[in-house]
Parts: sequence; structure tokens; C-alpha cells
Amino acid sequence: MEAYEADIKKSQLKRVLGKWSLTAIGIGAIIGGGIFVLTGTGAYYNAGPALALSFVIAGIACVFAALCYAEFASILPVEGSAYAYAYGTVGEIFAWIIGWGLILEYAMGSMTVAVSWSGYFGKLLKMFGMHLPDWLTTDPQTYAAAGNSGFAMNLPAFIIVLFVIGILLRGTKGAAKANNFIVLLKISAIIFVIIAGLFFINPSNWSPFIPAATTITENGISHSAYGVGGVIAGASAIFFAYVGFDAVSTQAGEAINPKKDVPFAIIASLLICTLLYILVSLVLTGMMHYTDFNPLGKYPDAIKAPVAYAFDIAGQAWAGSIITIAATVGLISVLMVMIMGQSRIFLGMSKDGLIPATFSKVNPMTGVPSKNLIIVGIVIATVASLTPINDLAHMTSFGTLFAFTMVCVAVWILRVKQPHLQRNFKVPALPLIAICGILINVYLIFNLSSEAKKYSAIWMVLGIIIYFLYSKRNSNLQKTGGFGETFKAEQEPLEEVDIDIDNKNN
Ligand code: ALA
Repeated sequence: MEAYEADIKKSQLKRVLGKWSLTAIGIGAIIGGGIFVLTGTGAYYNAGPALALSFVIAGIACVFAALCYAEFASILPVEGSAYAYAYGTVGEIFAWIIGWGLILEYAMGSMTVAVSWSGYFGKLLKMFGMHLPDWLTTDPQTYAAAGNSGFAMNLPAFIIVLFVIGILLRGTKGAAKANNFIVLLKISAIIFVIIAGLFFINPSNWSPFIPAATTITENGISHSAYGVGGVIAGASAIFFAYVGFDAVSTQAGEAINPKKDVPFAIIASLLICTLLYILVSLVLTGMMHYTDFNPLGKYPDAIKAPVAYAFDIAGQAWAGSIITIAATVGLISVLMVMIMGQSRIFLGMSKDGLIPATFSKVNPMTGVPSKNLIIVGIVIATVASLTPINDLAHMTSFGTLFAFTMVCVAVWILRVKQPHLQRNFKVPALPLIAICGILINVYLIFNLSSEAKKYSAIWMVLGIIIYFLYSKRNSNLQKTGGFGETFKAEQEPLEEVDIDIDNKNN
């Protein structure tokens, strides 16, 4: 254990986060564009009032994965999330593939949230009688599809990413404080929606709770909706709403007591958010009939900011305004945690030599990897300003479901290979829980849109090519034969892991 303590003291990142700060990071990462934006889409295109059931299914998929994440975090409290766990158990190439998938989750997730933020920001400006031209708030593809020509970019999405990078560069402690405040605001807004919304529910909107399966045709494209299949497709569609609880594990390097507090925070943040999501989706579909979210119907804007518009339409514009303000501020915290998570994954990959060393240089004054953040920020800002939100959201879900599946596999492998390893938290009923996690997450991947599956497959193939052309040749493992081998040792494996981590920093 001493080597482990020494590793904590020697860690380059500052250990400043307690268990409630970590839980707040989890909630801050989870509640965002998913509940504020995707609920209308999920209700109208997929599940109808049974959207609440979609949230239950997606929540169950997450709980299996969360338990597995928690066990890993209790063994190996280092930054890098599922990537680091895989490195310690199933080897370098698997770790690389997972890390590459996590980039979809965190980087694309940040972009999706930046674009969602831009939507709410537009509504906020409207409240004050201001308006940005379409060419400054729309990605080029969507702009051209609407029959326009000329230059277009989503400027607010670009600027908000740079703003968040500015906050993060000042250090994790300041960011955590700002995050705690924003998380409070966001939870208050969600509780406000649930309580205030109760007064405007019309129970007949819930009937039938699972509408009969049918086909929706829009712009010449048809897809099936509702019925039990719609509820499942809805779970895949809104999966993005749960992305983020694993962000807690990317902060393990900054946790004061990572082996206890990280598992606690992962599970606590997920359970709190699942409950809130179920209640919000019930309230929302009770306030508005699911067909009223039709973008070609009588409320064409409702689907863009459904939670706020539900109150506007109920004649409570004041409540819609409060929600718009809270969502605009609240989405910033999601963005902050997602970008922070992405930079930490790069930090881990860079320490292992799989990507260039620039990504693991920590600024001694602030304790954060500055160059890493700047590069990540510029890429995220640029792509977010130029890409349609749907493509981003679906690829985020792919990356997440993929990572969750791999974590369930890896925790099981580690139990078999290292049954006596000290675990402060153990997944109950393994391998049953891991198998359930794998099956449900893979099933949800198959229910994603075919474009998402196609683009994600291309991304993964690209990752494998880069691995063989660059990463494999430069990795520390190839040079020193270290970390990936450590879990093979039966005797006091934690000490060996920590020693190897230190070696890699040298
Ligand atoms: N779960 C986060 C959101 O909904 C990523 O924005």
C-alpha cells in the first residue's frame, strides 16, 4: 500500500476533490442537452408518453456499466477512465481501441452540448428582443439543406467552448467551485420543472401510454415509431442524456480519497439523475401531447427546447424564461466536465506514449494539462461550429455504449485473472451483472441510426490504422514492457501498478 500512497503524493495533478464534489461533477456531466433538448425528440419520434420507460431502460444499461466502472475505480484510481482500466487488464491494443471510442464519447459529447447550448442561447437572446442571423447560428450542412447558400457556422457553439477552456485553464479547484454552483442551479431548475409542471398535467395526454406502432414520414424519409420497438429505439436515442457519470472516473487523479469516493460518486450521480429524468419525462409528456412536438406541426420550435416551450405553451412564459436561463447556464457545466474528461483521457494515453508527449505536460502553477486543453478546445470548438447536432449526438452514444460494453468485459476478465486483488468495491453477482451489461449495451448499439453505425465504424478503423502507424511504435509498453504486464502478477499487484505508473512518468 505504501507505493500507492507514494504515488498519490507524487501525482502531478492536485488532489482537491471530495466525494460530494465528485458527485457534483457526475451530475454536472449528466444533466444537460439530453434532458433539456432530446426529450422532445424522443417523445415525438420514438416512444410517445412511454419515453419515461425509455429512460428506465437506458438507466438500467448504465447501472450495470456504472457498477463495473465503480469496481475498476476502486482498484485503479488513476486518470483516464475506461482507457486506463483496459490498459491494466486486457492490454494495450484494447486500451487504445477503448480510448479511441472514448474520444467519440467525450469530444463529440462536448460538441453536442455546445450546439445544444447555442439553441438555448438563441432563445435567451429572443427573450431580450435580440436575434443572430441564421448563418451565424447554423452549421453549413443544415444551412444549405434549408435552401441557403454562402458561408455559415454556429458561432455561439464555437465561442462557448473557448470560454469553458478559459475557465479550465485556471485550474481544477476553481472549475470545481464554479461547477458546484452551476450544478445546484441545474438541479433546482429540474426540480422546478417537476413541481411546477405538476399543475399543468393533463392525464389524457398519457393515454395510450405506449402508442400503437406506426411510421413517421418526413422530408421523404420514413422510420418506424412507437410501440415496444419505439420504446427501445427511444432508449438508444436518449442514451446521450446519461453520458457523463463515468466522467467521475476520469477525475480519479484529482480525488482526495479515490478508492472510496469515486465508486460512491459514480453510483450516486447516476441514481439521482435517473430518478429526475423519469419524473421530467412524465411531467413533459403530461403537459404536452407527444404529437405537439412535431416540428412540422402547430408548435414548430417546441422540439428545439421542449422543456421551456412546454411552459410557454401552457401560458406560463415566466416559467419558460426561468428554464431557458437555467439551461443556458447549466449546459456550461456539462461542457466543462466533458472537455475536462477528454483532456484527462488524452493525458493518460500520452503518458503511455500512445499519443505525443505534449498532451501529458501539466502546468505546475495551475495543476492542469494546459497545452492538452488548448488543442482539445480548438478542435472541439471548430468541429462543433460546423457539424449537425444529430450526427454528433448519435456518435456520442456509440462511443459511450461501446466503452460501457468494454468495461463490463474488462471487469469480468480481471476478476478471473486476479481474484484476490484488493477491491474496495465489488460488483455483486458477477459475471451475471457484466453479461447483462454487455447484452443490453450491444443491443442499444444496434438500435442506433444506420448513419451513426457507419461513421462510428469508419472512426474505429481509422483508430486502428493510427495505432499501427504511430502508437504501437512509440508506446512505453513496447519500449519498457511495463504497465500492461502488471496485472499478470498475483503478488501485491497494486504496488506494481503504481510503480509502473511512476516509471512511465520518468
Ligand atoms: N448527458 C449529457 C447531456 O445530456 C452529456 O448533455
